[in-house]
Amino acid sequence: MSDPFGLRSLDPAILASTPGMKWQAHPGRLAAWVADMDFPIAPAISERLAAVVAHGSLGYPHWGPAPSPAGRLFAERMSSRWGWSPDVERIHDLADVLQGVRIAVELLTEPGDPIALHTPAYHPFLNSLREMDRRIVELPVGADRIDEVASIIAAERPSLLILCHPHNPTGHRFRRPELERLAEIAEAADLVVVSDEIHSDLVHEDPPDIETDTETHIPFASVSESAARRAVTVTSASKAFNLAGLRWAVMHVGHAELERRLRSFPDHFFGAPNLIAVEAAVAAWTDGADWLSAVMEVLDENRHRLVDLLEHHLPGARYTPPEATYLAWIDCSHLGEGEVPRDIFRERGVEVSPGPQFGGEGSGHVRLNMATSPAMLERIVATMGGA
Ligand SMILES: Cc1ncc(COP(=O)(O)O)c(C=O)c1O
Repeated sequence: MSDPFGLRSLDPAILASTPGMKWQAHPGRLAAWVADMDFPIAPAISERLAAVVAHGSLGYPHWGPAPSPAGRLFAERMSSRWGWSPDVERIHDLADVLQGVRIAVELLTEPGDPIALHTPAYHPFLNSLREMDRRIVELPVGADRIDEVASIIAAERPSLLILCHPHNPTGHRFRRPELERLAEIAEAADLVVVSDEIHSDLVHEDPPDIETDTETHIPFASVSESAARRAVTVTSASKAFNLAGLRWAVMHVGHAELERRLRSFPDHFFGAPNLIAVEAAVAAWTDGADWLSAVMEVLDENRHRLVDLLEHHLPGARYTPPEATYLAWIDCSHLGEGEVPRDIFRERGVEVSPGPQFGGEGSGHVRLNMATSPAMLERIVATMGGA
């Protein structure tokens, strides 16, 4: 099988010595926890960064008015990929996606205020809300549960929804009817919707024999005029292109009051973007498409392969391949390993993320990172099974 980017031939010894949190925080164990990929970055990115460094000039960039070139490219890419045209004047460079979420929560709500999100939830959201003393309103995940979402929001009256779109850790892909319904619910409750779309390049296409939709991702802000006015969209090239350490993200603020508040801060209050990170995002979004489709092929293979691997090595574990992301949300509650089955997998030599960290129905679950070679995935699951 052709493997031009070396995605299928990862060397376990090299992986184990990879610098960075994923492989170094739990030495001696196979790393399938934090959402970094094991794949080497796209050649388009390494070549661009090498050229920048080789030139030897890392002084102040000559970019003109904000946003950065990556911020501007974000607008073009949203328009060409998803048919949504963000207003360039309302695009802000950030250090990371979580910063954008926290800014919106900090500036638009008060301690004690209820904030809604779908649980299980990306745990830094939960931790942020706890630290900021906000009250967490848990919503169930799934298009078939939208009526429950509507009644919880009507009863709890949150003023802000953090929408993880697509959803980490379940891999749920919000399709148009669910998004339209969410937009109506948001309008009825006058909700600000902070839409974290960091996983939007990692949506799997529906198989051709199933007649569903071909829109792999629909920015929440593009769903209706009302959605556009209440949306704060936050995203980054970091998840799909494996650049998390570079620290660059982008926020588009449709919500007028948040935009006004942001503009009231002095210039540089939120810092300025990093030259290398911006160059990397530009390279990813300009020339990274071939690499990304090769990655999606491996991820697609892995998400299906995991069904058989679990059946063989961990019979009783329940798992449905995610529609998006490279994360597998696995129900291990029938394995008899209690609320934190992560512990037994740790003992056996694999580090996965513990379900309870994600709140909601996380008890008895683990989240497994599938962004690795098929051979390494097999080794990980065999090791989880005690082989
Ligand atoms: C849904 C979601 N949002 C945000 C992040 C983190 O992004 P950043 O490092 O830019 O804050 C992650 C990382 O896995 C994520 O899954």
